Amino acid sequence: MSKILPVSRSGRFTGGPAADVAQFTESISFDWRLWRHDILGSMAHAEMLCKIGVLNKNELHAIVRGLNKIGLEIRAGKFKWKPELEDVHMNIEAELTKRVPAGAKLHTARSRNDQVALDVRLWLRDEITALLGDIADLQRALVSLGEKNADVIIPGYTHLQRAQPVYLAHHLLAYVEMLERDCERLWDCHSRVNICPLGSGAIAGSTLPLNRALVAKLLGFVNAGGQVQLTQNSMDAVSDRDFAVEFCAAGALLAVHLSRLAEDVILWTSAEFNYIKIADAYTTGSSLMPQKKNPDIAELARGKTGRVFGNLMSLLTLLKGLPMTYNRDLQEDKERLFDTADTVRASTRIFSAMLRNVKINRTACAAAAGDPVLLATDLADYLVKKGMPFRQAHHVIGAVVALAEKTGKPLNQLTLAELQGVNPTFGRDALGVFNLKTAMAKRNLTGAPGTKEVAKQLARWREQLS
Ligand code: ARG
Repeated sequence: MSKILPVSRSGRFTGGPAADVAQFTESISFDWRLWRHDILGSMAHAEMLCKIGVLNKNELHAIVRGLNKIGLEIRAGKFKWKPELEDVHMNIEAELTKRVPAGAKLHTARSRNDQVALDVRLWLRDEITALLGDIADLQRALVSLGEKNADVIIPGYTHLQRAQPVYLAHHLLAYVEMLERDCERLWDCHSRVNICPLGSGAIAGSTLPLNRALVAKLLGFVNAGGQVQLTQNSMDAVSDRDFAVEFCAAGALLAVHLSRLAEDVILWTSAEFNYIKIADAYTTGSSLMPQKKNPDIAELARGKTGRVFGNLMSLLTLLKGLPMTYNRDLQEDKERLFDTADTVRASTRIFSAMLRNVKINRTACAAAAGDPVLLATDLADYLVKKGMPFRQAHHVIGAVVALAEKTGKPLNQLTLAELQGVNPTFGRDALGVFNLKTAMAKRNLTGAPGTKEVAKQLARWREQLS
């Protein structure tokens, strides 16, 4: 039996939990990191208790001072967490009450069930805000890389086969778009995180005349219109973790996007592509092969996607069989949630740094983008402009490509006579199609990789992200 009796056992129990039970049930080893938000929540609750006459002013001040001091000690690493006290909530409350007698009133009309729901929401709200900043920074890194290399053209790929030429910036901006949708999803999730559950008690609220709106206001639970956001069903409030699932789902999709970017970076650094070089500080070596410079950051970001998916699946599984309302199973939500936030934030940040330390190999890009086959579709469009149905043009160009292959010539080196031998529609201007600059200037549909359009998109993002 442990010596310190948690407050939750003081009346009904004859002693503390068995040591192995305490060890199995504790959450302090991971939920300690909610301390800042636990203290904030307690301060707001105390202020409200004072307003409704449960605490007098002196008691309130003593509690706030005591909590502040505990906060400073935790931040300095001097606070002693006690596993016998189970979790962050009871550790802080017990220490407060030891120092300030009025601390015994702090838990009035509050349960750890609404307290933990509050703390996690407060914590996640801050994490989402920080993550949105991290993502915006990554978007800026992508835009900068595109701007610095605005004239670089690379082959665009489908099936990992060279398809059509695109500006490198266009390829990078595709990720900026994906990341923007991630931000939208996270903001949407934020609106459901930003609802105050305090006052829901253990399950059924309280018979005391709490002022829930005051607590919510103090803690910033207001929407864009300034309206206070309160949970509307006490049972739902203490057992709802949808917001955590939503965050983990949005995080999983963000991880997918980072993983795809990672894959491109890994391919591009290979000798086969050789499009980019990552600065030494952002690569790692091999313990055996002295020549190696490996893109481990990108590989790890790709690899960490697995745990982020796992976290989402864990949470869904955790929730699916739970009867109403709070069940201790819910304690298992935190590590999954923390891990998703930590992982996607770390990956996002390291990617920004890595991309700021990347050099584009212009020669290799130009050589790859100069492959005339990439403009085969343009040559088909040329025939379409001459009035040929596209299906026929597709067939004709296929035959032209086959002829080039057979004669061992690049597509743009075929003579007019050879082209006309395949189809008489080809005119003198046909080979002009292979001017890459002109070809890029022609792609000016909204969202296409044309010279003007990409410049416009870069400018739009630069403006939007500033
Ligand atoms: N550590 C618990 C958790 O994370 C706090 C809530 C415990 N509530 C309870 N009634 N046992 O979920």
